Amino acid sequence: MRTKFKRWAVDYLDEHPEVIIDKVNFDDEFFKDKKLHIEVGSGKGDFIIEMAKKNPSVAFIAIEKVKTVAGMLSKKIVDEKIPNVKCFPNDAAILFSTLKDESVDKFYLNFVDPWPKKKHAKRRLTYISFLNEYYRLLKKDSLLVFKSDNDSLFEFSLEEIEKSKFKLELAEFTYNFEESDAMSEYEAKFRKLNQPIHRIVLRK
Ligand SMILES: C[S@@+](CC[C@H](N)C(=O)[O-])C[C@H]1O[C@@H](n2cnc3c(N)ncnc32)[C@H](O)[C@@H]1O
Repeated sequence: MRTKFKRWAVDYLDEHPEVIIDKVNFDDEFFKDKKLHIEVGSGKGDFIIEMAKKNPSVAFIAIEKVKTVAGMLSKKIVDEKIPNVKCFPNDAAILFSTLKDESVDKFYLNFVDPWPKKKHAKRRLTYISFLNEYYRLLKKDSLLVFKSDNDSLFEFSLEEIEKSKFKLELAEFTYNFEESDAMSEYEAKFRKLNQPIHRIVLRK
């Protein structure tokens, strides 16, 4: 569902540079000697904030291109005083273009937009060009975790993975939530409706 434009949330991004990044500087204290986990399309941030609490030694980046949503997410980081999450309030491709090969320890894709029309297939975040980019950025043996409620996107993603260099570690049509995991806004919503949550785990 599209979030209505909120002036305060967009302004929040300018008012809180301490939680915003426009690139990754690995010499910065925030990233130095830490594992880097990235969520692509973080929405309002429930997943990444919960993950950051569970993994305080990891540096997390929440990528969210819709400014209103990124502002709401950034406010949660500030309000909950989460020290290990930064928000990149722009398109993922922009951040990726600044990152060198094998610099990321984990990717999360939670309930990304399914883009149901065939003519929009290239926009799906599991289209082969995106998979190739995650593969380039991940360190050897590192993981990408994908979750979705959408059957067609799940099937499409498995087909795209076949074309990629990733090893398919796991593909579950019905994923039973694990304690070490966290739940995004969308996952919580679909679980309430008793819809099966699909999960794919890929290894470089
Ligand atoms: C369907 S929502 C899911 C939000 C959240 N991950 C969840 O599970 O509740 C997908 C989000 O991904 C964001 N998004 C989609 N493509 C993106 C891209 N290329 N770069 C950054 N954000 C993106 C959208 O703006 C949207 O907020």
